[in-house]
Amino acid sequence: MEFGMRFKRTHRCGELRAKDVGREVVLAGWVNSNRDHGGLVFIDLRDREGITQIVFDPKINAKEHAEAAGLRKEFVIMARGTVISRAPEVVNPKIPTGEIEVQVSEIQLMNTSLTPPFELDDEIEVSEDIRLRYRYLDLRRLRMQNNLRLRHRVAKAARDFLDAQGFLEIETPILLKSTPEGARDYVVPSRIYAGHCFALPQSPQMLKQLLMVAGCDRYYQIARCFRDEDLRADRQPEFTQIDLEMAFVDQDDVLKLTENMMAAIVKVARGTELSLPLPRLTHAEAMEKYGSDKPDLRFGLELVNVTDLAGQAEFKVFAEVVKSGGLVKAIRVPGGAAFSRMEIDNLIAAAQKLGAKGMAWFKVTDAGLESNLTKYFTPELLAQIQKRLNGVTGDLLIFIADRPSVTNDVLGRLRLQLGEKLQLIPKDQLHFSWIVDFPMFKYDADKKRWDSEHHPFTAPHPDDIPMLDSEPGRVRSQSYDLVLNGNEIASGSVRIHQSELQAKIFKMIGITDEEATEKFGFLLEAFTYGAPPHAGIAPGLDRLVMILANEVTIRDVIAFPKTQRAQDPLTGAPGCFTAEQLEELHLQVVAEE
Ligand code: AMO
Repeated sequence: MEFGMRFKRTHRCGELRAKDVGREVVLAGWVNSNRDHGGLVFIDLRDREGITQIVFDPKINAKEHAEAAGLRKEFVIMARGTVISRAPEVVNPKIPTGEIEVQVSEIQLMNTSLTPPFELDDEIEVSEDIRLRYRYLDLRRLRMQNNLRLRHRVAKAARDFLDAQGFLEIETPILLKSTPEGARDYVVPSRIYAGHCFALPQSPQMLKQLLMVAGCDRYYQIARCFRDEDLRADRQPEFTQIDLEMAFVDQDDVLKLTENMMAAIVKVARGTELSLPLPRLTHAEAMEKYGSDKPDLRFGLELVNVTDLAGQAEFKVFAEVVKSGGLVKAIRVPGGAAFSRMEIDNLIAAAQKLGAKGMAWFKVTDAGLESNLTKYFTPELLAQIQKRLNGVTGDLLIFIADRPSVTNDVLGRLRLQLGEKLQLIPKDQLHFSWIVDFPMFKYDADKKRWDSEHHPFTAPHPDDIPMLDSEPGRVRSQSYDLVLNGNEIASGSVRIHQSELQAKIFKMIGITDEEATEKFGFLLEAFTYGAPPHAGIAPGLDRLVMILANEVTIRDVIAFPKTQRAQDPLTGAPGCFTAEQLEELHLQVVAEE
């Protein structure tokens, strides 16, 4: 094999079209496939931009033709030749270069390859562990290339938009102090200070607030965040936010700016216009109608509260739940009366798996509601229930009765499952909505105290400040989430900018004065030097791109993600420290897994 490149590449493999016929070109890339058809060798040559078929004809160049037969998958070659048109019967309409091929006059083999451990074909399912172990091969697949390109374009659209709006991109440190976003920290032990650690930022939250105090109004950053939490399809230990903060603004200003940014992103990613303003739901409405603070609004199947009616039945399960302050809610499933007994049993099993004790149901028939429970209800009550749910013949009505949080959660999730089952979800639609007026606090039953619903820097609703001491559970915050197709893709709030109110909120969520000084003293102090009112938001870039790319996990839109077990099979991270390193960092391993 030679070392230098004999040619200079003239085109990418996705570029040539019928108009290029007759051109002398040089392509470079990887052998995607190699076929011998009646003496002619056809190679699909692949690079980031696509695939071009190149042809070796023994009559034109016997030497190159002989060599071509030995070019195996993933060999790296450069090929010089002439663009020719394909006969109509062999045009490949599936690829943009399908009308042409390149008649090769000369090739140079740049490198060979072992046989890849999996086919680099987009259609072929490969275990994720193998894909991540050989991520550099996995990323060669066009689907992954397209995802990375989309991610780049979304980030660029955000940057261009924010730049035009007068935002400055400012980097903030990765070696930091603990940030209270609710997850465990990733920590980095200090060599210089024994027993001291940096914490990687769970978000740049406090830094962006300090930047507002510093007069850097309109900050943004494509920011890497680190959280040691249980992983799911939409969570990674390190992920990226389009983090932003503004001074002298209110909630409406942030919502409007974010909507316009999303419209710019959707335009670039999908080529479509987003209709603005985006719908807004209060947290209370979202919970009432959908049982979730991130409802998928691409379809109906709304939850209906029937607690008052259920309380009048003889049915013990309902009566007891209602008596103990629980909630009974129902969903009307159009056409669900046609479900088989097994399908209904599966729904009941799903409800139980989600945490409910059971699920009651009625079929709506011409003669009224039917099920093995009707005996516990008077005909009038059944009629009232049917009316409340707008039930018509052919429907199935399903009911969950439990503590309010369980009823909402289980029925909200059953709604999603039914939406899938009945194919009610228009998959290519993008449905954005705001959830506003979140409660300020959530009660932590284990710790027997209130905790922040968003983070402790979130400002309470001004009207509700008098209730902070008397009824903290009813205080609304000035925080907001942006939901896209049932995913929380952004979260933010108006911040507290006065140190007294901030100190009070810390106290309410069980942070003592000493702890507040130790953990956030710098922020409280900064607030005493003229902090402007400020607010911000942080869209999760990975989640946004995942949805725009129609992927189901954020791992497919991240070049080098971790597995669900927070490991990197490619590099083997996290790895062990050597005894020397441990000593240098003043660390001792007390238990090994
Ligand atoms: P929050 O913690 O809600 O708010 O995060 C904002 C957005 O970041 C995304 N996100 C994640 N994406 C992938 N993996 C994760 N582990 C993960 N965790 C969060 C979500 C989420 O909506 N500092 C505040 C923002 C602010 O108030 O301005 C914050 O970080 O899309």
